[in-house]
Amino acid sequence: MRLSKTIYVLNGPNLNLLGKRQPEIYGHETLADVEARMVEKARGLGLEIEFFQSNYEGALVEKIHEARDKAAGIIINPAAYTHTSVAILDALNTFDNPVVEVHISNIHKREAFRHHSYVSMRAEGIIAGMGTLGYVMALDYFAD
Ligand code: DQA
Repeated sequence: MRLSKTIYVLNGPNLNLLGKRQPEIYGHETLADVEARMVEKARGLGLEIEFFQSNYEGALVEKIHEARDKAAGIIINPAAYTHTSVAILDALNTFDNPVVEVHISNIHKREAFRHHSYVSMRAEGIIAGMGTLGYVMALDYFAD
């Protein structure tokens, strides 16, 4: 039985610059805009959001550890750590509830080094290339 209705939304490096960073790829919405959209959508679905961003791998690992006792699920855009971080994969493997991986851009349409994701080995599902809407779509999965 899952008592928690809190979904942890975790964001990796450089996503604090969303809206300013390569807007031709990542769009003009800021991370604060994404958080506001998610909080509103979550309210309608009877869910709560814990929103977090860090440029540090260890901080993301520790937030995943915190989620172990507190979260019904994790939505994660690990950003560049997607392609490099065994530590984040290992941390997610300690988490028992569902994980959805989100990428704003379609990583498979981009450079070859973005085609591999460590996190995909753990995630129940992946949403990529739908822009920031992908985060909101991931909430529907948990509501369902
Ligand atoms: C990203 C894709 C990654 O390859 C990149 O390093 C990012 C953002 C995305 O949301 O499209 O920082 O995860």
